[in-house]
Amino acid sequence: MPVARVDPDAPDPAVLRRAAALLREGRLVAFPTETVYGLGANALDERAVQRIYEAKGRPIVNPIIVHVADTDAARELTPEWTDAADALATAFWPGPLTLVVRKSPAIPAIVTAGGDTVGLRVPAHPVALALLREADIPVAAPSANLSNQVSPTSAAHVQRGLGDRVDLIIDGGDTHVGIESTVVDVTGAVPRVLRPGMLSRESIAEVVGAAHAAEPESSGARRSPGLLDRHYAPRARVHLFASGDRADVEAEIVDAVASGRRVGALVFTPLHLAGVAEHVVPRDATWYARTLYAALHVMDDVGCDVIWVERPPTTPEWAGILDRLMRAASG
Ligand code: TXA
Ligand code: MG
Repeated sequence: MPVARVDPDAPDPAVLRRAAALLREGRLVAFPTETVYGLGANALDERAVQRIYEAKGRPIVNPIIVHVADTDAARELTPEWTDAADALATAFWPGPLTLVVRKSPAIPAIVTAGGDTVGLRVPAHPVALALLREADIPVAAPSANLSNQVSPTSAAHVQRGLGDRVDLIIDGGDTHVGIESTVVDVTGAVPRVLRPGMLSRESIAEVVGAAHAAEPESSGARRSPGLLDRHYAPRARVHLFASGDRADVEAEIVDAVASGRRVGALVFTPLHLAGVAEHVVPRDATWYARTLYAALHVMDDVGCDVIWVERPPTTPEWAGILDRLMRAASG
């Protein structure tokens, strides 16, 4: 499928016009956002959104986020733009925040998996924003990967995962945030974080007074069905380990390598073990998030059977990262 490389800070208007035309025709365009690459389609065109589900092999119960160029465009898609929505949009848009609000009848049921709410987001990426302005339609876009695989942070990841299922991939380089947006439901009295991300619950609470954490997955309150699946997972088995258990883990890795298994490791300090696809990650949440998925993609590419991940801290700035690692490990 065609890949169009653009300067992420000054994308070629001709490419944007072509991509916008494809979107308006009901085709699929993959594009960079600041979090991960999105697989976009016209959110108002049921047939086009259907193509997203087909391309990803996505269960129809998992609603899709709608991307818009600004807050005014977001307000047109909901009958109820609450004070909380307005305060959070003002504070964090454009940015890695998705607001779940009541949906307008203009949005087809397929976008929201039949639900009466819709997730809206203004992404902080020059290419995404320029594309949304040029297309002048709301763009439904999940992450541009096959369902249940690791999200793409580069055009090459999109290409390897989705190949010719996409009509155009806009290559705007590596994404900066690296994990998906924080999803916040603002339909209730107190906003609730449905999916943690690099924008922390604490930062959200500072703006709106208080914010609930996600319901534990075991509870009956399934507010966001898609969030319960084994998401964001590499093909390998993922094991989290505490830094204090390092010696035991090293012994286990030596055994595994000796018996011919391919082992990957995501660690804060090098293991220095032979035959391990090791990725040493900085003890800084911003940088860790930025490189996490690329590291997991590499470990998939080299055929790792198992990946050992040193457990990150539990402070707020690591919440989104820890969430993705736990999901990856829960398979
Ligand atoms: O950073 C991101 O959010 C990326 C980029 C492309 O914007 N998109 C993304 O989309 O991660 P996706 O579809 O892979 O994840 C969206 C998550 C899903 O788990 C879905 O269940 C939840 O957001 N979601 C979407 N709409 C929702 C709604 N109306 N109510 C509750 N959860 C919703
Ligand atoms: Mg996804």
